[in-house]
Amino acid sequence: MAKIIKFFDTTLRDGEQSPGCSMNQKEKLLLARQLEKLGVDVIEAGFAASSPGDFQSVNAIAKEIKNSTVAVLARAVKDDITKAWEAVKEAKRPRIHTFIATSDVHMEYKLRMTHEEVINKAVEMVKYAVSLCPEVEFSAEDATRSDTDFLAELFDKVIQAGAKIINIPDTVGYTTPDEFYDFIMEIRKKSKYLDSVEISVHCHNDLGLAVANSLAAIRAGASQIECTVNGIGERAGNAAIEEIVMIMNTRKDIYDVKMNIVTQEIMNTSRLLTNITGVHVQPNKAIVGANAFAHEAGIHQHGVLKNRETYEIMTPESVGLTKNKMVLGKHSGRHAFKEKIESMGYEISKDELDKAFMEFKSLADKKKQVFDEDIEVILTNRGTKADDKYKLVRYVINSGNTITTIASVVLDKEGQIIEGISSAGGPVDAAFSAIDKCLDIEVGLEDYSIQSVTEGTDALGFAVVKLRYNNHSYSGRGTSINIVEASIKAYLNALNSIYNTFNRGM
Ligand code: KIV
Ligand code: ZN
Repeated sequence: MAKIIKFFDTTLRDGEQSPGCSMNQKEKLLLARQLEKLGVDVIEAGFAASSPGDFQSVNAIAKEIKNSTVAVLARAVKDDITKAWEAVKEAKRPRIHTFIATSDVHMEYKLRMTHEEVINKAVEMVKYAVSLCPEVEFSAEDATRSDTDFLAELFDKVIQAGAKIINIPDTVGYTTPDEFYDFIMEIRKKSKYLDSVEISVHCHNDLGLAVANSLAAIRAGASQIECTVNGIGERAGNAAIEEIVMIMNTRKDIYDVKMNIVTQEIMNTSRLLTNITGVHVQPNKAIVGANAFAHEAGIHQHGVLKNRETYEIMTPESVGLTKNKMVLGKHSGRHAFKEKIESMGYEISKDELDKAFMEFKSLADKKKQVFDEDIEVILTNRGTKADDKYKLVRYVINSGNTITTIASVVLDKEGQIIEGISSAGGPVDAAFSAIDKCLDIEVGLEDYSIQSVTEGTDALGFAVVKLRYNNHSYSGRGTSINIVEASIKAYLNALNSIYNTFNRGM
């Protein structure tokens, strides 16, 4: 009988920990809804004890998501677990995911605990979590660099304490497929109870092996795979959900498994994440990269036209890439716009529709054709919020190849109108330093990029700005048909994100 593989998506937790991928509550909810549509079995919504914002996001997701389990991360610490439960308890299927490190290097230098103390703490905290929540997952952080006798003993004790899912993470992306297979088989042999619960794995991609290691783990008996959309996550990221799913879907001859994933939602999910974070996938990225289904070489094109199977092992349609997109323009009405949004899988309230339609109309006035990608940007646009500290009033840039560029940027800073004027080599540089003149804090520009959303010289520009403040990175996104305006909006968006985090005068 086909084995059931469950997907535990941690894009909103481990993925969000990757630089530049932070999301606000509204964005997290949007992505959680899409993950539910994609059919993931578990959504790890966040780490509730890490910040009030994370707590609220987990809580909002827990209240709304019905078909997927909503998991929340907690260290094996009583206060973390209490907060985790408070955040997730309203979910239809709540799960507390608690962890403690188990490798010698982590226990000695990070935890300063002995093996015995780690076991006692883990058992005590799993019991506490079980007293609150019907489903508890336990993770042994840095498992692949831990002793297998120790892990077997620890797993048996936390299973007896009530853990229903045991996760074996390759936290630092150190293992290899053959080694991981043997490692899991060895722990299964040494443990009395591991086979009575669900075995999960969580692989990081430091050596580019996260997907291969996850597949080896399935062969060794794992039935839950922890992964992220586009493979985002700490350092080099986590195993990419789209790759594991499509490997199993394409190679059914090797993988006799069943899964609940709706593969046709893969592209929508990947694109939504990109639009929210501004972090693009490389063009040659498997499954979701822009070139994944593009056949450039003449010989390949010829083959594919004759018979797709010559060079195509899976169809673009199977991941939700469709060619026949209905393009909207300035004559398209509200009804067509609403239909388009619904056909793209978005469910939005009447207020959101009104706002999006106005933005669409203003874009359609400037741009001949409005593509799906443009509409996705409108729907995920951070825009300006009423409670933002900084809002753009107007700007003027005087630039040319024979003069020094001068920028004047006028901002509404909590009701007070202020102007910054600056000169620099280029218009974006001048605009950013004009904004800096309006601030009472010092920020450092860490990164700046601009990409066009679609082809054509009238395409929307999508700018991403990363600012450094108080030893943390804050990213902002902005879109406009004018690339300088997109850049200014992104800069202000990052500043408002700093302000919202500290919520104090700057
Ligand atoms: O990488 C890791 O070990 C983790 C755990 C918290 C599961 O993210
Ligand atoms: Zn991780």
